[in-house]
Amino acid sequence: MVLAVDAVNINKSFGNQIVLNNINLQVQPGKIVGLIGPSGAGKTTLVKIIMGMDAPDSGTVTVLGKSMPNRQNLAHIGFMAQSDALYELLTGRENLTFFAKLFKIATKEIPARIEYAAGTVNLLEFLDRPVSNYSGGMQRRLSLALTLLADPDLLILDEPTVGIDPELRQQIWQELNRLKANGKAIIITTHVMEDAA
Ligand SMILES: Nc1ncnc2c1ncn2[C@@H]1O[C@H](COP(=O)(O)OP(=O)(O)O)[C@@H](O)[C@H]1O
Ligand SMILES: [Mg+2]
Repeated sequence: MVLAVDAVNINKSFGNQIVLNNINLQVQPGKIVGLIGPSGAGKTTLVKIIMGMDAPDSGTVTVLGKSMPNRQNLAHIGFMAQSDALYELLTGRENLTFFAKLFKIATKEIPARIEYAAGTVNLLEFLDRPVSNYSGGMQRRLSLALTLLADPDLLILDEPTVGIDPELRQQIWQELNRLKANGKAIIITTHVMEDAA
């Protein structure tokens, strides 16, 4: 079986601060793995290294059987960053369309993918408003929808539940469990004990 993530002996320091000390992380398809730790623990640093967005000082990362960094492989990874990278002047739908094109989703499939992704995070009725009018929680939800667009095999969500109300949190967990049942691998960082549980 090909591991979704195989990070081996990862070390990373910033100056003389050791942030990751010989970290090993294996994630199988069909599993949800939580990275829990207080702010500053190194969660974001580790997921950036897994994505190939940052280089470790030593150690290796393989994602879906391919050595990282690997640009093509990024098409199979849904990454929700800790801070939202959205186009504020565009509407939710325009953001989703832009990213769908970036992910090379076939034009005729785009409306259905947007319906699915936005529906999962309860944003359908707000899709035609500019993102600058969204609340913080709505922006988080749109970011999550962007990661669902391309039907990735690996989802990496960095603090996804910040600013999200309890009801929607439950709904999102339902969807994550469904994705897991379909063989997707999911990594979630959090400092919320409830989510870790
Ligand atoms: N680019 C950077 N330059 C210097 N220090 C950094 C950098 N990125 C992260 N750090 C430091 O590394 C530690 C871990 O940060 P981070 O991975 O963001 O933690 P977490 O996501 O768990 O809150 C923190 O002390 C942070 O200040
Ligand atoms: Mg972080």
